[in-house]
Amino acid sequence: MNARIVLLGSGELGKEFAISAKRLGCRVIAVDRYDDAPAMQVSDQREVIDMLDGTLLARCIRRHKPDFIVPEIEAIRTSELLKLEKAGYSVVPSAFAAHMTMNRDAIRELAAKELGLRTARYAYATSAQELADAILAKAGVGLPCVVKPTMSSSGKGQSVVRTKADIAKAWKYAIAGMRGDRPVVIVEEFISFDYEITQLTVKERASQGGGVKFVEPIGHRQERGDYQESWMPCPMKPAAKRAAREMSAKVVERLAGKNGAGIFGVEFFVQGNEVIFSELSPRPHDTGMVTLRSQDLSEFDLHLRAILGLPIPEIRYNGPTASAVILATHEGTNAPEYAGVAAALATPSVEVRLFGKPTARKHRRMGVVLAHGKSADDARKIATNAARKIRVE
Ligand SMILES: Nc1ncnc2c1ncn2[C@@H]1O[C@H](COP(=O)(O)OP(=O)(O)OP(=O)(O)O)[C@@H](O)[C@H]1O
Ligand SMILES: [Mg+2]
Repeated sequence: MNARIVLLGSGELGKEFAISAKRLGCRVIAVDRYDDAPAMQVSDQREVIDMLDGTLLARCIRRHKPDFIVPEIEAIRTSELLKLEKAGYSVVPSAFAAHMTMNRDAIRELAAKELGLRTARYAYATSAQELADAILAKAGVGLPCVVKPTMSSSGKGQSVVRTKADIAKAWKYAIAGMRGDRPVVIVEEFISFDYEITQLTVKERASQGGGVKFVEPIGHRQERGDYQESWMPCPMKPAAKRAAREMSAKVVERLAGKNGAGIFGVEFFVQGNEVIFSELSPRPHDTGMVTLRSQDLSEFDLHLRAILGLPIPEIRYNGPTASAVILATHEGTNAPEYAGVAAALATPSVEVRLFGKPTARKHRRMGVVLAHGKSADDARKIATNAARKIRVE
């Protein structure tokens, strides 16, 4: 025990992970590009650096000499993580996994071409003209379609193109919303799915048998490419559930390799009998915050146990549960205050998690409400109603 963990990214997911790690006696150094980020507030030490700067990143790691480097976001100079892993550092779940998921194109190529997973039709573009060609050409992606920067998260820079006239706008929007320095977008066929899920998949350490374990599927709803609510259970036809697990195991085992361990959030669209791979996070997933309440070991506990090579017994499920996000409604509010928390907590089974972000921006996720219900639909209603009562001021 007493592992030293450098957490690269200190948002709400990092915060919950740090809490899990502190409970098992780890020492956590939280890193982000701004000070007082959520995970920093519950960690032993903090570092404020630009993690896309390889030199700064390597210097930070070498100073702290962690037992584990745990990325929490995509926007990290992952080529540096590959070097650090070669030098003997343990990157979670593996430097390869972090590197392949830094940009959407690398993981898409691996999933679609190498592993043969079913995905939406897609193409790449490096200019508005190329984007138009990729969409409108005879064998192109067609309309409607979804345009995303190859490096971004939480729906930033993502838009749906319905007509030819939207294309130039979508290009500009993607470039304005991208992270990093590569002006490349992916354009995907729009899938009118029946529902979408996150399949949380745990890869254990070789010392624990190196197996793959699954959390029950999590249903979720997104707006503007960003998650609004998630719930469990999410009933699936047995064949679809099996397909999602098989595809998850395939991609997780490839990314983790022999020695890697940790939790992955694998995203799928389900349309009729078809299960379509979308993308994945080699770390806890935002929609997986529902597991803070739905089961005894949350996705953060599972990530930590996998990393430390601790046993992962059968997960005990607490019944229908939902999460609903609390969003800021205003631009640039510093030290935001929260009204209506008491009203939200007046409903039995409701719990509130405020992330403690130092600044609010319009649509920024500031907290989450968790609730149980008689069914998943009931839990969703309770969580959403409670979340609506909380205002960021
Ligand atoms: N090809 C598509 N067809 C239909 N809907 C899509 C498509 N791609 C994305 N979406 C919708 O947009 C959401 C966000 O897309 P995606 O997961 O690729 O972006 P993201 O920015 O990585 O989001 P996050 O970081 O929150 O996971 C999806 O969960 C889905 O609801
Ligand atoms: Mg996603």
